Amino acid sequence: MPTSFLRCFNTACAAVYPVTEVIYNCPKCGGLLEAAYEKPTWTATEMKRTFRERRMDNAPINQSGIWRYRELYPFLDSDEHIVTLREGNTPLLDAPRAAKYGGLDQITFKHQGFNPTGSFKDNGMTCGASQARRLGMQRVACVSTGNTSASMAAYASAGGLQPIIFIPHGNISYGKLAQALEYGAQTLQVEANFDQILALVRVLAERLGIYLLNSINPFRIEGQKSIAIEMMDQLDWNPPDWIVLPGGNLGNVSAVGKGLRELKEHGFITKLPKLAVIQAAGSAPFYDYMAEAGRTFHSVTHPETLATAIKIGDPVSWPKAELEIRTAGGVVESASEQEIADAKAVIGAAGIGCEPASAATLAGIKKLTAAGVIRADEHVVAILTGHVLKDPDYIYRYHTGQLKDPAGSAIAATFGNAPTVVPNDADAIAKLLG
Ligand code: F0G
Repeated sequence: MPTSFLRCFNTACAAVYPVTEVIYNCPKCGGLLEAAYEKPTWTATEMKRTFRERRMDNAPINQSGIWRYRELYPFLDSDEHIVTLREGNTPLLDAPRAAKYGGLDQITFKHQGFNPTGSFKDNGMTCGASQARRLGMQRVACVSTGNTSASMAAYASAGGLQPIIFIPHGNISYGKLAQALEYGAQTLQVEANFDQILALVRVLAERLGIYLLNSINPFRIEGQKSIAIEMMDQLDWNPPDWIVLPGGNLGNVSAVGKGLRELKEHGFITKLPKLAVIQAAGSAPFYDYMAEAGRTFHSVTHPETLATAIKIGDPVSWPKAELEIRTAGGVVESASEQEIADAKAVIGAAGIGCEPASAATLAGIKKLTAAGVIRADEHVVAILTGHVLKDPDYIYRYHTGQLKDPAGSAIAATFGNAPTVVPNDADAIAKLLG
């Protein structure tokens, strides 16, 4: 096992710390931290074969679509701490009609909603919870717009840890809140937004010795690298032209970008796909920042969007996200509430479905192809981050024409599919069905 360590992401500092230190920011300069490793002794060719062989193996860590690739994030000193619910193994799905809507010849969705708790958070949480056990922690905490908390609750409980979750009161979907309750988390609904609660939780975690499992935790990012790694494995290590994903706290783009860079560095792939991050227009500080050269980063004080998963105004990982976008030659786009809602219905009508935040991908792709940034014949993989059933209330309102944006304006049911109430009468129903 090569030596692993924590390193300050701020290159001017680059301080190094043991991987067992409980820190989330650099104690010297306050910068973000990342996990780093000594040069490996294996070759990419050897590892590609090993990864394939593990798919045929029944050992839980080889069945896991995260731990199967463990040599690419070797921060644990022993497998005994691993908590796995057989996460990952999420499919690549083609959707010709969604491609046409997005202005593409072809689109591939990497659907992270197929994970055990229905979102991509499981990729990172299996690593975060395993590290918590390795450190001998008893309690873990996070603030969440819903998916992180659902995932943390499940992994903590599965691993014998006590989950404590903080959520913005009234601002997460019932599907996600229900998961946290069912998985046994102590659940605190705070009268504040995500960004305010994150600051609060950081203070409490420090004061009470609770391990923080937000994406500021570098081990979460290590796990989420697997989304890119598994995708490349599924594509026989032929990178697409673009990978498109929604952006909230910007942990996921940081993880996917790091994963891709490391794959290239180690010789698994020969080129980097371009990355496109799509933010909801009412919660788009990163879009604003990247749109204007020389601008300083400003958070959005009152973020708004019905895609509550990405309702974040002060994303902690923006410096990492910036590096990944610039390295990959990527772009940042924003999408309106109407654009997200319509794209979501199109993904649903393809028989695939996803939660609102995930649909920002297709909404953004449509704009980027129209603007000539993405060409119709390029191969685009969009990451659908959460399951369609995460937010059923949104779906019902959209299809019945009752969905309103945060300002109270109606969202048109462009692709609405409202249910019809019929009498208990075969003749009447037959007439209706033609
Ligand atoms: N899509 C979904 C479904 C999410 O739940 C999130 C984030 C994102 C996209 C954005 O990912 O933050 O890494 O840029 N949800 C977090 C949560 C914030 O608490 O569940 P990001």
